Amino acid sequence: MSKRVVIFDTTLRDGEQSPGVSLNLHEKLEIAQQLARLGVDVIEAGFPIASPGDFEAVKTVAEQVRGPVICGLARANRKDIERAAEALRAAEEARIHTFIATSPIHMKHKLRMEPDKVLETAVEAVKFAKSFTSNVEFSAEDAFRSDVEFLCRIFTAAIEAGATTINIPDTVGYATPQEYGAFIKAIINGTPNMDKAVVSVHCHNDLGLAVANTLSALENGALQVEGAINGIGERAGNASLEEVIMALYTRKSVYGLDMSINKSELYRTSRLVSNLTGMLVQPNKAIVGKNAFAHESGIHQDGVLKERTTYEIMNPEMIGIFTNNIVLGKHSGRHAFRERLKELGYTLDDDKLAKAFARFKALADRKRDITDDDLVVLVEDELRAF
Ligand code: KIV
Ligand code: ZN
Repeated sequence: MSKRVVIFDTTLRDGEQSPGVSLNLHEKLEIAQQLARLGVDVIEAGFPIASPGDFEAVKTVAEQVRGPVICGLARANRKDIERAAEALRAAEEARIHTFIATSPIHMKHKLRMEPDKVLETAVEAVKFAKSFTSNVEFSAEDAFRSDVEFLCRIFTAAIEAGATTINIPDTVGYATPQEYGAFIKAIINGTPNMDKAVVSVHCHNDLGLAVANTLSALENGALQVEGAINGIGERAGNASLEEVIMALYTRKSVYGLDMSINKSELYRTSRLVSNLTGMLVQPNKAIVGKNAFAHESGIHQDGVLKERTTYEIMNPEMIGIFTNNIVLGKHSGRHAFRERLKELGYTLDDDKLAKAFARFKALADRKRDITDDDLVVLVEDELRAF
């Protein structure tokens, strides 16, 4: 029987940490409601101690959004945890996500704490969080640059203290896929009580490897994925959730994992997040970019028109795109041109079609993307000519 992967969305927390992004309460609620329609398992709604606005947003999401577990972030101290618990009080199911850094570089320069003190602080934090909810996630910040033996010690202690999810982030996006997979496996093998918790991964995209690293971790025993819609987040962002989801779905034979995601809500979710955050989606972005299902060259268009699977490994309809995305440009062929005209209601005889196609090619040399309006003008002109 295949295992189920937990989809943890942090668009409203880590995603909102994107430079220049600030969502108001209404916008956060709208995104959270859409994430619930998408069917994510956990919504990390914010960092309640960070600001009164963040607190209100987490509280409102906890009060109004039903379905997913609602999660609030807290550093490993009582004040943060109390604030998160208060914000989450009305949630159907609340998760407190507490974290502390474990890498030598962070412990020395940022925390100025010895490893044993970090371990003790983590245990106290998990126990305290557990007094508010049974659902507690513990993260070792900058885990990938931490000592594996120390991580195994701190995770063993955190699970004993009551953590139900153990998150192993690549906070600075430093890992490569093979390394990260082996790292996750070593931690699972070196933590004797890890079977009592869900192993989670949280990858940043500094080297453009966040999705690849996430998938590698899943092949090595992780069962929770953290990421953001459109891959937004600190610096180069987080693992892009729509990419992870569609990789797991399209290559199920490789990963063998189930999810309870309504894929047809992916495109709408991406558009909503982009519109509200003002972060544009690059046209060639996998899954949700404008060109993700577009075919420009004549050979590709001809292939897709004959049989979609020639050049499409997924249907746009799967993710909720229902328009025809064949782009007509200078590389397009006659077949695609004729099909588009048909869709626009024109059936031309061979002679007219040849002439219209010649005009279209001349226009495409001057103008990169030919729109339906251009085609209508061009064909009407041709039809009126003697
Ligand atoms: O990147 C990171 O390590 C984080 C933690 C708070 C989980 O965002
Ligand atoms: Zn992060």
